Amino acid sequence: MAHLTASSALAFTAAQPEETGTPDSIRAYLAEQEGKSMLRFLTCGSVDDGKSTLIGRLLYDTRLIFEDQLAALERDSRKHGTTGDEIDFALLVDGLEAEREQGITIDVAYRFFATPKRKFIVADTPGHEQYTRNMTTGASTADLAVVLIDARKGVLPQTRRHSFIASALGIRHILLAVNKIDLVDYDQSVFDRIVADYRAFATDLGFASIVPVPVSARYGENIVGRSPHTPWHDGPTMIEHLENVEVEEDKVDQPFRFPVQYVNRPNLDFRGFAGTVASGTIAAGDEVVEAKTGRASRIARIVTAGGDLASAREGQAVTLVLEDEIEVSRGNMLVTPDARPQVADQFTARVVWFDAHALMPGRAYVLRTETDQAAATVTELKHRINVDNFSQEAAKSLELNEIGVCNISLQAPIAFDSFADDRATGAFILIDRLTNATVGAGMILHPLRRAANIHWQALDVNRDARAELKHQKPAVLWFTGLSGSGKSTIANLLEKRLHAEGRHTYILDGDNVRHGLNRDLGFTEEDRVENIRRVAEVARLMADAGLLVLVSFISPFRAERRMARELMGEGEFVEVFVDTPFEECARRDPKGLYKRALDGQIKNFTGLDSPYEAPENAEIHIRTTETTPQDAVQEVYDTLKRNGYC
Ligand code: ADX
Repeated sequence: MAHLTASSALAFTAAQPEETGTPDSIRAYLAEQEGKSMLRFLTCGSVDDGKSTLIGRLLYDTRLIFEDQLAALERDSRKHGTTGDEIDFALLVDGLEAEREQGITIDVAYRFFATPKRKFIVADTPGHEQYTRNMTTGASTADLAVVLIDARKGVLPQTRRHSFIASALGIRHILLAVNKIDLVDYDQSVFDRIVADYRAFATDLGFASIVPVPVSARYGENIVGRSPHTPWHDGPTMIEHLENVEVEEDKVDQPFRFPVQYVNRPNLDFRGFAGTVASGTIAAGDEVVEAKTGRASRIARIVTAGGDLASAREGQAVTLVLEDEIEVSRGNMLVTPDARPQVADQFTARVVWFDAHALMPGRAYVLRTETDQAAATVTELKHRINVDNFSQEAAKSLELNEIGVCNISLQAPIAFDSFADDRATGAFILIDRLTNATVGAGMILHPLRRAANIHWQALDVNRDARAELKHQKPAVLWFTGLSGSGKSTIANLLEKRLHAEGRHTYILDGDNVRHGLNRDLGFTEEDRVENIRRVAEVARLMADAGLLVLVSFISPFRAERRMARELMGEGEFVEVFVDTPFEECARRDPKGLYKRALDGQIKNFTGLDSPYEAPENAEIHIRTTETTPQDAVQEVYDTLKRNGYC
């Protein structure tokens, strides 16, 4: 398990040049590693397919190749007494800083190994329940996926799922490892059939290469050393392919993208923008613009711990100093003026969901890109993808491990590319606002232009003017609690009192609104989220009209109550928790619903088979078993009075 952020890896690499007393041979060796190209790959397959054995084999067998070099290195380090008895292979890992810029806590082990030709980082992604999450994490920067197939079983639904996810995450190269070939007597026809099956279904996935290798992880055959039992195999061994597969081709040809991680301003004379080049190259003197504002300048210096560079390329962590003092802050992106990214607050994206709690359209999440973030809502779930046959299915939510395509709306625009154009700037993660857990990952397909054409209409008669005419301060009183808890009773009494005093009020009541505006909605979690979203928006409009709005809905979820609160201005949202225990509501049962629900005649009944998340910080907490409705009304009224609302 590793939690790797850009800054920790950066601190680590930056420390290297400072090291003193390193023997020249080790220095030379490290320099040699630095010059080699790097291949990132991941392995997909379940435990039974022999994944761990295969990775173990790769590490062990390549180490053997290395033995001479290692022995020399170990001797050197002991002789010079600088690194102790162990060779710290972590020293060789210089490419990790870009690995997890987004700071997801990773259940994925990254292992490093090298051959004389290339160095490798393999993401060992555990399977089981959380496989999409782990795979997504491991695959998001991988160049190639090793798809493991058990020769006795052939292509399984799991194989198809993994391959689909790999393709969705932008992986273009597949090494098809047909494992346990010894257990089918090294039979070429078994191998050929599996390869043909795989190629047939993978044609739509757009891989640039699929290279099959018959292997036995157990006996180390065709992994590093060639098997004497497969003379019919004229393709490469695994390591030969991993060493030679060409994946670099287009990375540096992409337009320059530099998401700013932080502004480095140690003193008044220096102002640099630190980050990792996400794609393309940059040289001193090049013109750049900030993506969102379009402000332009030129690169004055490219600063690194090891001194200034003339140019930098994808994957390099640098600090850029500009010629002009233009405003740039964390989350901004410096880009080439010739090919600027999209800037929008709505787009369509493919989303992979990893949380046990389903994705709900209408619910607010935090969307985070490489360095930027914004509050985000899925405005429409267009479809779910059936990963077994790649068909599109209608869906109202995305469950754990599901993949779907949806429209996302942000509270503020971000700069991005479509994922197909740039894997670094076209990807994002979604974070639960209450738990801070990473709940999904997304790939942007294209921006939606509709928002760009709708502007907020400035009106002459505004909220203040309307409220003033009514001699009141608008507010939203949000009553939440179980069905039959007494919300409507209290709201009704309160409105009578306010009305009698000449206040302009309106009650939005769940039962009533569900007869009209929300009559298309039922009581599933998805529908309740949408129910509350609409009511919160209506309440906001009514407050904008200058009214004191009383909202009486069960509103069982914290996320939506919080969303409603955030729609309103500071202090204008008063949450009233009408706290009546389930048993007491069932005893009162004013509408006879509890009896029917307990008899099993009503599904998704709040407090029974649908959750109620009690407020933690409501402004007013009314325990109806301890107080009369009249006293409750008085309490709310007093609070309003204290805050100048009546
Ligand atoms: S909410 O959960 O989406 O906020 P809302 O307040 O609109 O619910 O509607 C709740 C009212 O619908 C209840 O007071 C009750 O009269 C009725 N109702 C019908 N079915 C259910 C159910 N399954 N769960 C809760 N309330 C239900």
